[in-house]
Amino acid sequence: MKLFIDNRTDCLNDYYFQTLCLLYFPGEKFSPKDGSPASASFLLEKRGEGDFYCEATLSDGKRQASGCFSTAGWTPEVDMKDNDFAAMALGKAYLRAGEKLFGFSLPWGYLLGLRPVKRAKYYLDLGCSDETVGRLFRKDYDVHPDKASLAVETARTEQRMLAGTEENDCGLYVSIPFCPTRCAYCSFISVATDKLRNLLPDYLEKLKRDIEHTCALIRETGMRLTSVYIGGGTPTSLDPRQTADLMKTLDRFLPRENLREFTCEAGRPDTITEEKLRILKSYGVDRVSVNPQTTDGAILERIGRKHTVKDFYDACGMVEKTGFRVRNADLIAGLPGDTEEGFRKSLEDVISVGFENITVHTLSVKKSSFLRFSEDGHYDPFGGLARSCVSYACGRLKETGRNPYYLYRQKNIIGNAENVGYAFPGTENLYNVLMMEEYSTVFACGAAAITKLVTPDRTDILRAANPKYPFEYLASDRFLSPEEVIEFRAGKRKTRTDKKEQEPF
Ligand SMILES: C[S@@+](CC[C@H](N)C(=O)[O-])C[C@H]1O[C@@H](n2cnc3c(N)ncnc32)[C@H](O)[C@@H]1O
Ligand code: SF4
Repeated sequence: MKLFIDNRTDCLNDYYFQTLCLLYFPGEKFSPKDGSPASASFLLEKRGEGDFYCEATLSDGKRQASGCFSTAGWTPEVDMKDNDFAAMALGKAYLRAGEKLFGFSLPWGYLLGLRPVKRAKYYLDLGCSDETVGRLFRKDYDVHPDKASLAVETARTEQRMLAGTEENDCGLYVSIPFCPTRCAYCSFISVATDKLRNLLPDYLEKLKRDIEHTCALIRETGMRLTSVYIGGGTPTSLDPRQTADLMKTLDRFLPRENLREFTCEAGRPDTITEEKLRILKSYGVDRVSVNPQTTDGAILERIGRKHTVKDFYDACGMVEKTGFRVRNADLIAGLPGDTEEGFRKSLEDVISVGFENITVHTLSVKKSSFLRFSEDGHYDPFGGLARSCVSYACGRLKETGRNPYYLYRQKNIIGNAENVGYAFPGTENLYNVLMMEEYSTVFACGAAAITKLVTPDRTDILRAANPKYPFEYLASDRFLSPEEVIEFRAGKRKTRTDKKEQEPF
């Protein structure tokens, strides 16, 4: 899309404007200015202290609509800086224009970023009551009341889960970015071609060294490992021998004294076998995921997910037989060709399997074309279906006794909705919360994995990203040293700070 920005402030950068635009235009790419008409244009100006004015005009190619907002006279309930006022003027003007053009308002208002719950926790930590946080979300950000309540409820659950967390607690992520085939919608880094899958043996050797190094680092720096998560990609795309080999390495080096949970995201039902599950269990894995995404076979085919609905039920049977403390299943709302009834049926099918955790994602598009030009014309460019499906899922899963315990949003999510993990009390996944809320240090091994060091007072974060793709990871030899970890956590290292909660994506 073409963007015209007349930004007469030094508060927000162009990236911020682009990120805001994606709320109504998920998956759009931004093209260079070339004189053709813009699909979004903004004028943002500072008129005084805390006084910002914005005009926004949006176009869908046929029609256009405008909105404006001024923060003059706005009385904030919590401290607001110039950046916040500028973001408010811009956000509210954008929402007004968008609502006029598209005929619906965005559930999360102009709240940007992946972690609305972190924002809610920030207010709760300032001493705000649940009601005040809900009101701030609604009034300041135009968040819908049900989403404001969802954020507060999730924040409260997270607070309870994190209450006993010590400052040296940490998690470990082990990345297996390999899949049997690539699903059309997938927004994660994972390789599936035969050529790249040939790297797997070398990858596993390197990963084992990485695990040995990282476990030693955890011990040497006096950290307490409380959760392990093997994710991907599809960890169960390893064969039984490779699985056992990886698990032996983890068994040998993991500091287990404080370990509370050990997850393996099995994921794709067609890769799960009883033999692999028995191996995982014998090495202490106590939580697995089996993900149908939908229980409509025609949709599975359309989204290029090469397994059947029967594969899902078969894998559930194997998981049941092997016996794990916690089981999870992922669904996606808003898949091309799905309907409200179809989604409800998938949800009921998954509920009836009886897993403790159910995670409901909203489709996030890699490119707008994935939605707009799907072969059979089934598409929902505005994500209305996804919005109503996730709202329904929230109420229905609460009826079953599963409560929201973690929540995040992805870039290019349709309908401005969210991804939510629901769990029976006591079965919530600590790793998901630590990672999402950036509350504790998480060490990460493997390609596309990101270590996040968090200072004991939780005011600063250092992100150390491993190379994204297996072949790059194989070529790299950069490991964090104990000195780097200790110095950073002691506040003696220059870092990229993460205090700017407003920072988008
Ligand atoms: C990291 S993926 C790995 C899971 C595993 N490989 C599988 O496919 O079952 C975790 C989850 O993210 C969700 N996901 C992946 N791509 C998505 C997208 N574009 N939009 C919404 N959810 C997505 C799916 O529900 C998936 O189960
Ligand atoms: S199996 Fe999972 S990680 Fe792999 S491509 Fe499909 S959704 Fe993505």
